[in-house]
Amino acid sequence: MSEADIQPAAQAVAFEVPRHVAIIMDGNGRWASARGLPRVEGHRRGVEALRRTIRAAGEIGIQVITIFSFSAENWSRPPSEVHELMSLLRRFIRNDLAELHKSNVRVRIVGEREGLEPDIGRLLSEAEELTRANTGLTLVVAFNYGARQEIARAARRIAAEVERGTLHAADITTETVGRFLDAPDLPDPDLIIRTSGEQRLSNFLLWQSAYSELVFVPTYWPDFDRAALEAAIREYQQRERRFGGLVAKTGS
Ligand code: FPP
Repeated sequence: MSEADIQPAAQAVAFEVPRHVAIIMDGNGRWASARGLPRVEGHRRGVEALRRTIRAAGEIGIQVITIFSFSAENWSRPPSEVHELMSLLRRFIRNDLAELHKSNVRVRIVGEREGLEPDIGRLLSEAEELTRANTGLTLVVAFNYGARQEIARAARRIAAEVERGTLHAADITTETVGRFLDAPDLPDPDLIIRTSGEQRLSNFLLWQSAYSELVFVPTYWPDFDRAALEAAIREYQQRERRFGGLVAKTGS
């Protein structure tokens, strides 16, 4: 490696729009509490923030946006809140799917489908089916999703192939594991945004985030908008991405 191989920082910065942005939409409850409102009101306003963000992502030229809409651990919330989150998903798909389809958005779902209420499972499948051929923004809805659970699912699928004799254990590489995840064809997220000031991944995309840039913003999710998304992208653009090497690379 000669000195010429190490690009100066000015060239190394990732100026382009991140191809894949993933968002941990946090702070709905605190947004509501701060206003003396029930937590569910925060989730309802969170759906509006989601609509704004999907529209902005498409306009900005992001190719893939992944949203953490219900985690595998969210079942431990009070039944009334779980019920409300399920109802919001139902309403979101029933009310917004036609519009998303018209806007050429492709909907993908990651997470565990087993054990969901049958109508929810059907709605998720319908959203994927209807939008399968769309070529615009890909909206990945992480629903009943946990990253450790996703990696365990991949391990089970790999083990089944080994049992069938279609895969040799010695041939399993990181690329193999990636192929057995829930959405293996999608690029890893370039940028992961978490709102509400919390600074952790909370079992979100643990495999795929190996080289993601993490941006934590203080805004509660219901207040998130295009300006907040653009500010997070600007912060991403200041980062040097080296992927473990010395030469900085741009995001995609
Ligand atoms: C975190 O806020 C947010 C969630 C657990 C769910 C995110 C859901 C939405 C934005 C609305 C629903 C969208 C769909 C598509 C179903 P929190 O409740 O953990 O907030 P807190 O940390 O302030 O309590």
